[in-house]
Amino acid sequence: MRHAVIMAGGSGTRLWPLSRAARPKQLLDVVADEGGGAHSLLTEAFERLRAVLPIERIWVCTAARYGEQVRAALPELGADRLILEPTARDTANAVGLAAALVADVDPDAELAVVSADHVIRPVERFVAALGTAYDVLAVRPHALVTLGITPTAPATGFGYVQRGAPAEVPGAAEAASFQEKPDRATAEAYLASGEYLWNSGMFVWRAQTVLHALAEHLPESAAGLKRVVAVPAGPERDAVLAEVFPSLPKISVDYAVLEPAAAEPGRVLVVDLDVDWLDVGSWPALAGTLEGDGAGNALRGLTVLLDSARNVVLSDDPEHLVALVGVRDSVVVHTADVTLVCPIGDAERVKQLLAEVERRH
Ligand code: GDD
Ligand code: MG
Repeated sequence: MRHAVIMAGGSGTRLWPLSRAARPKQLLDVVADEGGGAHSLLTEAFERLRAVLPIERIWVCTAARYGEQVRAALPELGADRLILEPTARDTANAVGLAAALVADVDPDAELAVVSADHVIRPVERFVAALGTAYDVLAVRPHALVTLGITPTAPATGFGYVQRGAPAEVPGAAEAASFQEKPDRATAEAYLASGEYLWNSGMFVWRAQTVLHALAEHLPESAAGLKRVVAVPAGPERDAVLAEVFPSLPKISVDYAVLEPAAAEPGRVLVVDLDVDWLDVGSWPALAGTLEGDGAGNALRGLTVLLDSARNVVLSDDPEHLVALVGVRDSVVVHTADVTLVCPIGDAERVKQLLAEVERRH
């Protein structure tokens, strides 16, 4: 049967100081509602899947420390559908754990893996593309299918999938190659060639297929995960998980599985995901989810701007006013204990800044 798991365990460091280790971006209420309120990216990811699957086949995989917050954000999620990792070991292990647990209850499960940090419009086209990706498994049962986005810039923070021969299902093609996070020159060449799609970080495969791929490319993880599901669900399994998981090699599924698997012809397929898509990874990207004004500013909270343009300005404290005059192309974020000011062009360096802050404090 068809299942899906939301990967919701990232820490979102480039959105510091709003996103904190204790409360990462996918759990923050950053997306403006029509009614003037706001909701989280995780809630959006969950609602998108509800349009595709019955609730008991929707799973969420996150770090144990976010468990309570995820439960609060998704009260309808079944208690036995929340997968908690003892520590974060990146997506190869999160995907592997989810696949192992889903396969434990449904050995023939077809499993979609989706991200928790995307804004996707319109939802109907996402639903259609996901349906196409599941359909591919009917003709290519052992395929690793990724959803691909038409690239609009030579971004270096994404994976790139090279479109090869068309597959049996309309909208699907074989992937000729896969390159995770290329350097700038390579990304520019990929964009110019017109042959590449961005990897959306959303995949569809049989749970067994990705477990086999892990056994092949990341045997240590596969062996550890096998030990976990060898014991029955309950406290005993939790104990094995707590012992095994922290020692697994920390690596993303893109590097560990997709890159090597795509070197084998016909193993990886790509389905076009033709939507407005935003990976809310950094401050300029988050601007797309905030309220705009006539001068290109993206605003949230108590703010007053005079003669200022193209800024991202946010006050996370309802009593604290952030006021700007004559400021352009900047990020100004105020929270209870940290204020960040940086030119928009340096927004990717916030991760580096946070490392420096942690080193000094
Ligand atoms: N459960 C769990 N555990 N989830 C995780 C972990 C983990 O250890 N690490 C990250 N995630 C979640 C994040 O919360 C997010 O929803 C998703 O997995 C992807 O992680 P990111 O850290 O945001 O990855 P990325 O954006 O750098 O790269 C991925 O996504 C891009 C598109 O957004 C890759 O798949 C790229 O190839 C892709 O282009
Ligand atoms: Mg991301």
